Amino acid sequence: MAKKILVTGGTGYIGSHTAVELINAGHDVVIIDNLYNSDRSVLEGIQNITGYRPEFHQIDLCERDRLEAFFAGRKDIAAVIHFAAYKAVGESAEKPLMYYRNNIVSTLNLLEAMIGNGVKPIVFSSSCTVYGQPDALPVDENAPVKEPSSPYGNTKQINEQMIRYTVEAGNPLGGISLRYFNPIGAHPSAQIGEAPQGIPNNLLPYITQTALGIREQLKVFGNDYNTSDGTPIRDYINVVDLSRAHVVAVERLMNGHNRQGYEFFNIGTGRGHTVLEVIEAFEKATGQKINYQIVGRRPGDVEKVYADTTYANQELGWKAHKTLEETLLSAWNWEKAYRKNIKAQ
Ligand code: UD1
Repeated sequence: MAKKILVTGGTGYIGSHTAVELINAGHDVVIIDNLYNSDRSVLEGIQNITGYRPEFHQIDLCERDRLEAFFAGRKDIAAVIHFAAYKAVGESAEKPLMYYRNNIVSTLNLLEAMIGNGVKPIVFSSSCTVYGQPDALPVDENAPVKEPSSPYGNTKQINEQMIRYTVEAGNPLGGISLRYFNPIGAHPSAQIGEAPQGIPNNLLPYITQTALGIREQLKVFGNDYNTSDGTPIRDYINVVDLSRAHVVAVERLMNGHNRQGYEFFNIGTGRGHTVLEVIEAFEKATGQKINYQIVGRRPGDVEKVYADTTYANQELGWKAHKTLEETLLSAWNWEKAYRKNIKAQ
């Protein structure tokens, strides 16, 4: 029987790009998503790129009975890559319990269903937010996990711990958490990309929507940080590069090569850019001018964070390849294609 990799949240931004890279690497994919923050049409995008339409189930992982029913009798799930989660930092501060219920209960149900059905490996979608403002930069995996700066960040920490302790308790499970820095960009085909609902929280979709005139003006949150131009520094990683890290991680688990049982890796480029540098690079890459204004700091933002990727480079044999310019151009091409598509519908 052909084995499949289950991708939870597979119609979402990073999930859909990972589904594509898995298929391109020769894997069979099954997607579970509740479509809370994504659309079924993403499946067409995946199909247009790969020539293959993944099996899809609209299931909310918090619905334990439906999840158990999905797993029951299935012997074809070889591994799980778990993306499905709420991810808006600000919203999590306003509605913490909504975040704890969704992001914790879903993983709990998933782990129990996996163990009950003999599915062993799990790759978890984590975040560099677990480091808070690191004491030293670039931040490597030995840096301590800090007091969370939001309930969202706390759910990432708790999820990692749930997986780790489950593995360490001797359950037949292998786990890898990938701690992403700032994923941006889109598939170069512009068939899939980031499609936030409503007003974007993150920098890149705000930039592309401003360039297209959907938003009037980008607000740059603070220029009084201790950086070259006063705006915060982040490590912006291309979503396709990031997706390939998942392919490598899940293959490592399926091949039984993860020595520690539970592992975690920083997934970034190793380079930091300020907000103004990103705006400037976007303008250069696309020829579009961004109307922006400096405003006050956004609560909870850290000053600077970028990855030491040595461990991922050496252990996973993975590295980010794409330049910031090509990544920004891919985000712009996606935004234009996406809006054209919406208009045509
Ligand atoms: C944060 C988390 C990340 C999480 C993500 C989810 C950290 C270090 N990172 O990313 O783990 O997955 O949220 O949403 O906590 N900015 C503006 N104007 C805007 C939007 C953003 O100036 O309209 C600036 C921010 O101040 C920040 C940078 O752009 O300096 C990136 O912001 P954003 O894209 O929201 O990501 P993070 O907050 O870094």
